[in-house]
Amino acid sequence: MTVHRVAVIEGDGIGPELVAAALTVLDAAGVALDVTPVAAGAAHYAATGSAISDAGLAHCRDAGAVLKGPVGLPGVVRPDGTEGGLLGGVLRGGLDLFANVRPVKLWPGVAAPLALEPGAIDYVIVRENTEGLYASRGLGVANAWAASDTLLMTRPGVERIVRFAFELARTRDGAPADGVRRVTCVDKANVLKSFAFFRAIFDEVAAGHPDVAAEHLHTDAAAQALVMDPAHFDVLVMENFVGDLLSDLGGATVGGVGMCGSGNLGTRRAYFEPIHGSSPQLAGTDRANPISQILAAAMLLDRVGEPDAAGAIRRAVWEALASGAVRIGRDGCPDRGTARAVRDIVARL
Ligand code: IPM
Ligand code: MN
Repeated sequence: MTVHRVAVIEGDGIGPELVAAALTVLDAAGVALDVTPVAAGAAHYAATGSAISDAGLAHCRDAGAVLKGPVGLPGVVRPDGTEGGLLGGVLRGGLDLFANVRPVKLWPGVAAPLALEPGAIDYVIVRENTEGLYASRGLGVANAWAASDTLLMTRPGVERIVRFAFELARTRDGAPADGVRRVTCVDKANVLKSFAFFRAIFDEVAAGHPDVAAEHLHTDAAAQALVMDPAHFDVLVMENFVGDLLSDLGGATVGGVGMCGSGNLGTRRAYFEPIHGSSPQLAGTDRANPISQILAAAMLLDRVGEPDAAGAIRRAVWEALASGAVRIGRDGCPDRGTARAVRDIVARL
C-alpha cells in the first residue's frame, strides 16, 4: 500500500472539526497517510505575526498534497485592514497553484433553493488562482482620498488556465442538460480590456480543442444563468475575483457553500479545502456541514493517484444523503449534526 505524505492545516473556527471529520473518512476509506500537521491561519497570525511559518510553508511545499481547513477569525487583521489569517497569497501565489477547481453539484437530500433533481447541477468552476484582481493582494495603493487595485492578466497565465479547463472538460461526461462537453468563458469583455484579452486567448485555445464546445458569457449574465439554467453548464473558466463570487453563488444553488470542496492545483503541488470560510459562530456546536471538507479530501485522493478511494468516498456521501440518513437543511447544516453525519458517511464505506 502506498503511504501518501500529506501536510494538514486545521485552520480556524470550524476548521479543526471539519479536518478531523475528513481524516476520519480518509482513514475509513483505507488510505494510508503520513500526516504532517502545519499550524497556520488567523490564530497563528495573532500569536506570531505571520499566517504561516517558513517551516510550515516548506512542509506544504514538500508534501505530496495539503489538506487545509478554512481560516480566518474576526478582528484578526493586518495593519492595512485586510485579514491576517489568510493563506491564499502565500499558498496560491507562493506555490504557483494556478488552477482553483471548484465542482458545484446538486447532491440528494439537500434542501436547495432550486427545485431540481440530484445531479441536475454538475459543473466545475475553474477559477484562475494566481493573477486577476487578487494579484493585487497586499499591493494596492491607498491614501485618505483614493484607493486602487490592479487587475493583472498575462498571456501565459490566461493560456494555462484556459487550457486546463479544456483538458478537464475532456475528462468529464458533459453538461447534465445535453451531455455536451462544453467550456464557458465567463468575462466582461464588453467593458474591460483585460477581459477582452482573456476572451481572445480563450478563443485561441478553444480552436485547438474542436471536440469540446466553447461559448462566452458575460459575468452578469452568467450569474443569472447559473440560477436559471444551471444544467447547461459543464466547465466554466474565469478570472480570480469573478470565480470567487460565482463559486459562492453556485454553492448557494446546491444547498450552501458547505457542499463544495475545492482543489488549488499547480503542476507539482496542490492543496484542497472547502470554498467557504471558518464560521467561528458554528465552531464547537456540532452543526457545521463536513461535506465540503470531505469532498476536498476526495479531490486530494484523485490527485495523489487514489481514484478508487476517492470514488468510494463520493459514493458514501451520495448514499448517506440519498438514504435520508443525512439531510442538509435550509440553513446548510446537517439536520442531525456534524458527528452523526460523519458516522453515517463512514458506515457506507
Ligand atoms: C476563497 C476565499 C478566499 C478568496 C478568501 C478567504 C481570501 O473566499 O477561497 O474563495 O477570496 O480567495
Ligand atoms: Mn471565496
